[in-house]
Amino acid sequence: MERELTLEFVRVTEAAALAAGRWMGRGNKEKADEAAVTAMRRMFDTVQIDGIVVIGEGEMDEAPMLYIGERVGAGTPPELDVAVDPLEGTNIVAKGLTGAISVLAVAPRGCLLHAPDMYMDKIAVGPRAAGKISLKASVEENIHSVAGALNKKVEDLTVVILDRPRHEDLIRQARKAGARIQLISDGDVAPAVAAGFEGTGVDMLLGIGGAPEGVLAAAALRCLGGEMQGRLWPMDDDDVARAGKMGITDFDRILMMDDLVKGDEVMFAATGITDSTLLRGVHYTSWGARTHSVVMRGRTGTIRFIDARHLFSRKPGYARP
Ligand code: FBP
Repeated sequence: MERELTLEFVRVTEAAALAAGRWMGRGNKEKADEAAVTAMRRMFDTVQIDGIVVIGEGEMDEAPMLYIGERVGAGTPPELDVAVDPLEGTNIVAKGLTGAISVLAVAPRGCLLHAPDMYMDKIAVGPRAAGKISLKASVEENIHSVAGALNKKVEDLTVVILDRPRHEDLIRQARKAGARIQLISDGDVAPAVAAGFEGTGVDMLLGIGGAPEGVLAAAALRCLGGEMQGRLWPMDDDDVARAGKMGITDFDRILMMDDLVKGDEVMFAATGITDSTLLRGVHYTSWGARTHSVVMRGRTGTIRFIDARHLFSRKPGYARP
């Protein structure tokens, strides 16, 4: 994969974020999502890749764009698997809360898990705690092990968990272990990625969220040298059937980094839509807008933060940034 593509992928998440950001706080998550999807889809066609969406907006018959199996890009090599979430955190944008991002990951064909649209139990940490976690271990064991790896007291560790009734027991166990907990209303990709960076205030992500989001977060953690483990979490027979279609029948199996994202030939890009610990959201100005993105390559481990100014107008009198 050419390194020049990194900037092209940032353009794609920027376009989606700029479109979705307009819908912040307007109480309409469908419109926000639609705006992000349309903008992302359009920008993808300018990128010199032959991509197939493996994680996208849904099955072909339920999503008009960026559906699983759709070809994206200009159609020229490299041949890539593409995972996208044009608007990760639809409720967040609708309510104007923090932590919505536009996100994508790419890897050579066959290297991203074709995760079905269902839940996944997840644990995610940054590089210093990689190799020290296990979904087979108890919550308390994982918390103690991560605290040890980070050379922190357990009571100084911050664990992010989606605020859901299904996590009642998990939250109780994490509190009993003594860790600090940040309960979030939505959007578990951003905190999983934040756990990969020191100084973000996030040490670990725990709990059940979307499986597709799990693969996206794993792609970032692969670039960052962190670790994520996942276990598919079917809720009903439909989920079992959906997973079966993707060839997954063993729901006890723990999906390790290599199952989620094979090899290090992976790129990850995200642009903030609303402000979060890692990325500022879209800020509109008199001359256009500012976006804040991160882009990473697995092979080199290079991480770039891109603070972009987008001029919407060339009219006389506009103020340059
Ligand atoms: P959307 O952007 O599709 O609304 O998903 C947001 C999200 O919070 C994900 O980050 C998370 O993995 C999943 O939904 C959790 O699902 P649920 O809201 O059903 O608990």
